Amino acid sequence: MCAELRDAVVVDAVRTAFGRAGEKGIFWRTRAEDLCVPVVKALLHRNPAVKPEMIEDSIWGVTNQIKEQGGTLGRMVPMLADWGWEIPGCSIDRMCASGLTGIGFGVTYIASGMADCLICGGVEHMGHVPMGFMRDPHPRAEEVMGDASAFNMGMTAENIHDQFPQFTRGMADEYALASQRKTELAIEAGKMNDMVVPVEVELENGTRMLVEKDQQPRPGTTLEALSTLKTPFKENGRVTAGNAAGLNDGASAVLLMSRRMAEDLKLMPTMRWVASGVAAVDPRLMGTAPVPATQKALTRAGLTMADIDLVEMNEAFAVQALYCLDKWGLAPDDPRVNRWGGSVAYGHPLAASGPRLVAFLAGLFKENPSARYGLTTMCVGRGQGYSIVWENMTTG
Ligand SMILES: CC(C)(COP(=O)(O)OP(=O)(O)OC[C@H]1O[C@@H](n2cnc3c(N)ncnc32)[C@H](O)[C@@H]1OP(=O)(O)O)[C@@H](O)C(=O)NCCC(=O)NCCS
Repeated sequence: MCAELRDAVVVDAVRTAFGRAGEKGIFWRTRAEDLCVPVVKALLHRNPAVKPEMIEDSIWGVTNQIKEQGGTLGRMVPMLADWGWEIPGCSIDRMCASGLTGIGFGVTYIASGMADCLICGGVEHMGHVPMGFMRDPHPRAEEVMGDASAFNMGMTAENIHDQFPQFTRGMADEYALASQRKTELAIEAGKMNDMVVPVEVELENGTRMLVEKDQQPRPGTTLEALSTLKTPFKENGRVTAGNAAGLNDGASAVLLMSRRMAEDLKLMPTMRWVASGVAAVDPRLMGTAPVPATQKALTRAGLTMADIDLVEMNEAFAVQALYCLDKWGLAPDDPRVNRWGGSVAYGHPLAASGPRLVAFLAGLFKENPSARYGLTTMCVGRGQGYSIVWENMTTG
């Protein structure tokens, strides 16, 4: 046992491009595990001092653990990477925050001395394993969660609009437009190049190609086009395909280490874990939960929102992002928030989004050495929030 907590650090973080779920998606003919293998191999390829035998656990967030995503995918990934039988693995489900929760568990293992080197990832192939696939809710589930709207993520966003009408459809569309624009600029500026691992896929006609570009972003989005979109979750509602995150396929992973091991291997970590917070709210308003989760993480860190220089917040829906920003006293266009765009534009392959946020924050820390603290935060179906505060280690 360790008498004191040790520093847990992020050495590297990568992801696949995110595809659209369904037959027109770039990963339609690629299995979930085959999205994970290229990212874990890339982590070691980019950090040659790290050998497979140093990895003490392979912790994967997977929301829908059935079909190709079942069978303890976390254990299968290192074997499918041809790293032998000696790397243990597990799969974790906290819905959208499954991957971020894996990272949260990973940093505490390292801090407590239970491990020195971990791979923590997240994957979701929403095309092959759709949301809620084969789920069998308890007969009392509706009753204990409030009502049927708690089951439908789009309806939970409509509920925020209804309960807090100050966040209008127009504001949600403007937020979505800004997310698309920031994404377009980040991609044009090459910000994704160092983070996205090419994945070889087979096309319908049997030919093979390398996928390295996100399929979901819609450059050139206009407010006019957004304002005409239908509201699929509710008649005369406010949530649309334009101001919601999409249905996507993708994988992301993070190489975590004790600071001591990273130093011994002469690696250059990007950030250090400071504190985490998990919280739960009324499931019908699940998108509001990053607020109490972040408060817990900040309190444990002895910080306030004013100390946070960069925020990577998952945008499940524009309205829940607007709600959280408002509670934090941040303007919708605050330059600290989602500087390279967010899930409304890149898409949201559920469990893959948490490690994606960590990868974005790591990239932003490298680019902004004067930024000291950063936050990764997400809302979660069933009414949960998960937040992690990090400290930049690239400041010299
Ligand atoms: C909202 C949702 C139902 C839309 O699904 P979809 O209908 O398959 O989405 P599409 O991409 O086909 O878009 C629908 C239409 O909007 C249009 N559209 C989407 N984004 C647009 C944009 N930024 N600008 C202009 N048009 C846009 C599309 O072109 C399409 O138009 P068409 O019907 O004329 O072809 C789906 O994305 C969804 O369920 N999102 C939420 C996922 C979720 O719950 N995640 C968990 C969070 S907790």
